Amino acid sequence: MNRDDIDTSIMTLGPAKIPSPIEARAAREENRRFVSDKERILVNIFESDLIKATKNRKKLLSFEHVGPRSKIYFDPSKLRCAVVSCGGLCPGTNDIVRGIVLALYHSYGVRNIYGIRYGLEGFISSYGHELMELTPESVLHIHERGGTVLGYSRGPQDIENIVDALERMNIGLLFTIGGDGTMIASTRIADAISKRALKIGVIGVPKTIDNDIYLTDRSFGFDTAVDVAVDVIRSAHNEAMSASNGIGLVKLMGRHSGFIAAAATLAMPEVNFCLIPESDFDLEAPMGLLEALKQRLILRSHAVIVAAEGAGQKFFEGRPEERDASGNIRLHDIGLFLKEAITNYFREQHMEITLKYIDPSYTIRSVEANANDHVFCGFLARGAVHAGMAGKTKMLVGLCNNHLVHIPMEATAGKRKQVDLSGGKWMSVLETTGQPSLKN
Ligand code: F6P
Repeated sequence: MNRDDIDTSIMTLGPAKIPSPIEARAAREENRRFVSDKERILVNIFESDLIKATKNRKKLLSFEHVGPRSKIYFDPSKLRCAVVSCGGLCPGTNDIVRGIVLALYHSYGVRNIYGIRYGLEGFISSYGHELMELTPESVLHIHERGGTVLGYSRGPQDIENIVDALERMNIGLLFTIGGDGTMIASTRIADAISKRALKIGVIGVPKTIDNDIYLTDRSFGFDTAVDVAVDVIRSAHNEAMSASNGIGLVKLMGRHSGFIAAAATLAMPEVNFCLIPESDFDLEAPMGLLEALKQRLILRSHAVIVAAEGAGQKFFEGRPEERDASGNIRLHDIGLFLKEAITNYFREQHMEITLKYIDPSYTIRSVEANANDHVFCGFLARGAVHAGMAGKTKMLVGLCNNHLVHIPMEATAGKRKQVDLSGGKWMSVLETTGQPSLKN
């Protein structure tokens, strides 16, 4: 993927002409300041990239910085907003909903905010899902809970029907919280809105614990998921240590990207083998996992293996492919596969082992956000609201080089971030685990 060709310009519904209600407060509070669209964050920050761009007379790629604009597009007293969450659970979703409601209400004085129930289904009248009125009182405690108070659903819905619903409800600003599928749907909703020459903003807050949103450093909920994963790995290590030739095997989420497994491994350096979808591995000798595991047991008599769910899918080649409602391939269970392969191998080797397999499954994503994610979600939500109020649309808020920025939806939708096998993170994983290449 060539990052140099990304169009980083953000679409707007029209000129922002209304003085921001934050202005009055800003005048009183010396430290408050507005952000201008000219304040931008560089995408490529390596000196070599900058030198190359200058040499080729190329414009340096940069994103608009988030933050309140001095002029806004919408009149808060007339504006009606909607918030929808789609796709699977992710710690911090309720924080995002709460943050959006509080920023709209308190910073801008917007009074009509609605929650769309059960994802995109909530727009379609035949499902009969009621709207949820969102007020500072109704969202007061929701950040203390995992899950999503709005409910979610998977799968696409008819885009024209969704825009019909937005028109019927007289919504001016829609906030979509969801993963890649949701960002693709949001792009289409924004396009259909433009086609009808409507003035409805669509702002995305990308959500996936897998942390695989293209162009963003970190997605909310990831930090919490890693925290929970670390506890699970600790248990696996304790089990492994307490038996002779004990093996702790942990399967973690991570469909196409192994960020959770890699980060949890770095946090728990007791892990000896970290298997991720990006890095191919074999089972058989001379270099495969089973032989390496045997050597580890001979040396230390215990071992911990962490496998991301998308790792080793090549072992299931030829089996029928199934997809979920969102169109995601249903992965084969690498955890159970490894458990069986390891058990059989050591039986053949006449070597006694004690293998404990732990699959924390949904527990890593259905919990309340941790402190770090609470903070992060607050920033994301406020950033989304400021952008929406300024009349920006078809964009999402994301972290780039440790700054929150506006990213055009089209720049990320349909693309994926993966662990860079020659990058520092994966090199650190290899250093801490000491695992060999595992490739024949
Ligand atoms: O996309 C995030 C994720 O957590 C993946 O790691 C995992 O495969 C998937 O969700 C499982 O969710 P569901 O069972 O809801 O499809």
